[in-house]
Amino acid sequence: MLTDPISRLPLHANGAIALTGAASGIGAATAARLNAAGHRVITVDLHDADVVCDLATEAGRRLAIEKVTELAGDALAGLVTCAGVDTSRNLPGSRVVSINYFGTVALLDGLRPALARRGDAAVVCVGSSSATVIPDLPVELLQLCLAGDESRAGELADATGSALAYGASKAAVALYVRHSAVKPEWIGAGIRMNAVAPGFIETPLLGKPRDASQSDPVLETFLEATPAGRLGKPDEVAALIAFLLGPEARFFCGSVVFADGGLDAKFRADHWLAVWNRPARLVHRQVGSLRRGAA
Ligand SMILES: NC(=O)c1ccc[n+]([C@@H]2O[C@H](COP(=O)([O-])OP(=O)(O)OC[C@H]3O[C@@H](n4cnc5c(N)ncnc54)[C@H](O)[C@@H]3O)[C@@H](O)[C@H]2O)c1
Repeated sequence: MLTDPISRLPLHANGAIALTGAASGIGAATAARLNAAGHRVITVDLHDADVVCDLATEAGRRLAIEKVTELAGDALAGLVTCAGVDTSRNLPGSRVVSINYFGTVALLDGLRPALARRGDAAVVCVGSSSATVIPDLPVELLQLCLAGDESRAGELADATGSALAYGASKAAVALYVRHSAVKPEWIGAGIRMNAVAPGFIETPLLGKPRDASQSDPVLETFLEATPAGRLGKPDEVAALIAFLLGPEARFFCGSVVFADGGLDAKFRADHWLAVWNRPARLVHRQVGSLRRGAA
């Protein structure tokens, strides 16, 4: 049995883990961590990967699903969807949602059969704390994403701009995970699906390298917002991803775990607890049984 040199936990001795966005940042740190622990990692990216493809396109997604399934052999033990873009490269909003949401969901759906064949697979989607801390997210865009309408979502994302499109795309990933993870085709097929929501992490995604010793207004904004007073390291998110893939996380299902230096807790301390109103059907059933009990 293989042993993780860091946690000393037994790991799956067979089965590959597919990882998108593996060429840089959090994905590269995750690939390094999984490789060091003895896993076979199938990397997917625009460059420097086992499967080179553009997840913004239908053809790229199809290629990724076909090649990963082929390279995995019989079954896939894990999937990490980490490929993503933010707003620092002035991309149109449509490309942001196409990569971050539609590219992610296409791979989740396309690789689900290979994960199900394994019987005890794990999926980790990389979301973002921007899903909760960016104010006034366009709800209609979120809904179009969840409805699978890429063309109308793209039009709206272009109109709203890439910053709001980024937050909406990551909120949609988190909601997809929460809605789907509990369904028979996921947890019922032995596939645990969860998400991580990183805050500001020191990777090329944040734009030019940020040097804490020099004055940089963007860096100052990030640091001021983050209670921990620093940017996160890619390997700190990779460690969380590796944990969620591993056996110690086997009771996690549909969780969105923040690794954000306190951002979400600072901005949304009370908001995560939305009071849940019991559906009318349940209320009637319960009132009925109370009445019967009282009689
Ligand atoms: N860095 C942060 O502060 C931060 C914060 C929250 C969430 N995230 C998320 O973490 C994930 C990884 O980001 P990162 O910070 O490591 O950035 P990064 O830019 O270092 O890495 C992103 C990777 O995704 C790949 N990619 C981009 N578009 C692609 C496409 N169309 N097809 C295939 N691959 C594509 C890139 O080539 C790159 O290797 C992203 O989903 C990002 O949204 C990052």
